[in-house]
Amino acid sequence: MKISVIGCGYLGAVHAACMAQLGHDVIGIDVDANRIESLARGEAPFFEPGLPETLTSSLASGRLRFSTDLAAVRGSAVHFVAVGTPQRKGENAADMTYVDGAIDGLLPHLSDGDLVVGKSTVPVGTAARLAKRVAEHSGAQLAWNPEFLREGFAVKDTIAPDRLVYGVPDGDAGEMVRQLLDEVYASAVASGTPVVVADYATAELVKVSANAFLATKISFINAMAEIAEVTGADVSKLADALGFDARIGRRFLNAGIGFGGGCLPKDIRGFIARAEELGRGESVAFLKEVDAINLRQRDRMVQIVVDALNGEPFQKKVAVLGLAFKPNSDDVRDSPALDIAVNLRGLGANVVATDPAAIANARRLHPQLGFSDDPLEAIRDADVVVLATEWADFVALDPIEVGALVRTRTIIDGRNVLDAVSWRAAGWTYIGMGRP
Ligand code: UGA
Repeated sequence: MKISVIGCGYLGAVHAACMAQLGHDVIGIDVDANRIESLARGEAPFFEPGLPETLTSSLASGRLRFSTDLAAVRGSAVHFVAVGTPQRKGENAADMTYVDGAIDGLLPHLSDGDLVVGKSTVPVGTAARLAKRVAEHSGAQLAWNPEFLREGFAVKDTIAPDRLVYGVPDGDAGEMVRQLLDEVYASAVASGTPVVVADYATAELVKVSANAFLATKISFINAMAEIAEVTGADVSKLADALGFDARIGRRFLNAGIGFGGGCLPKDIRGFIARAEELGRGESVAFLKEVDAINLRQRDRMVQIVVDALNGEPFQKKVAVLGLAFKPNSDDVRDSPALDIAVNLRGLGANVVATDPAAIANARRLHPQLGFSDDPLEAIRDADVVVLATEWADFVALDPIEVGALVRTRTIIDGRNVLDAVSWRAAGWTYIGMGRP
């Protein structure tokens, strides 16, 4: 099929490359000329495992092109809208400027029978509003097809998603739209991927409620970590024991410095704002607490570090291992690790942070921090070491080797991933989050 993808950020670039890999003829559009040039050269503009290879092979096949000119979407039968919906400055609500702009920009280039497919995460009610606009100005149809990809696994999640959700119009049009989407996702459908066909509102809500549920699960276990801390319980063992109950499940029960990134934090805030607009604020008011518990973990970590430095962080060297919001990503949007590094710097500590992929992005936002590409250099002469993002290289650090470099053997494990026994055996004071 001939497909266009409007917006080539984390979502759109991966979607465009993967759709071409699946055999479609794809044009990716973005307003950022640098981004488009780099994608056209086969260079991923951000760190995503597998994306450079997918881009290179798709470009070589001739099925993937990029352009800054929206007119290049002409001739595509399906147009994916994959632009960002960031949090509005100073508000909880999502900024819809880019989605509205993309739809307005598309309208003059649509032909009868085209399908516009929204992938961006939007406030419930958006698809119905945009469907009207598309119908008023063209003979095209609109579908909402939320995306569930995780950064770090984005290629795999796009090629082989765990489910497909189609928000379609009522009646015969809905059936036509479903058939077109089944054609787009033919390989996933053929391999038995569950497909949920729903109305627009349900499809939009699946996305935000999935992220709200995941955020709630993380904040739940972090709340338990706070209780564990004052009772001497071990939150990691607690999570293991809870996880054996199949109704609960072990995934997303890792306590630590909490969730960040470009999705979970802004999506729960956007959901709160939208529910309030709908007069149902009380239904999701608990998400405010989920947000508050999450942000509190960052303050807790800063306090743990300050306590470990006997209340005197000024000019002490703090090595921060990790800046990305999670491993296998260079994304520092709303990153707990970066926030903690910045706050410790604000208290006068000499922070030296390291990350395998996210230093450039972190430095752009916070040039006042110290950075080192080499974890061992970051750690050298440290008064305290903080593990903030659980990159495999950090988890694999040898406590004996590292112990010879530092001034004081204090390690604070912000992700509860280190083996406390071996670190203690190497003479370290090991402090986890909600672990004795
Ligand atoms: C999230 C969802 O998992 C995806 O399904 C969704 O498609 C995506 O948002 C989106 O809306 O686009 P992502 O932001 O890539 O994906 O990251 P997650 O893997 O969900 O992790 C989010 C944060 O939670 C990270 O900071 C991670 O460190 C933290 N986390 C995760 C925990 O603190 N504990 C856990 O047990 C799991």
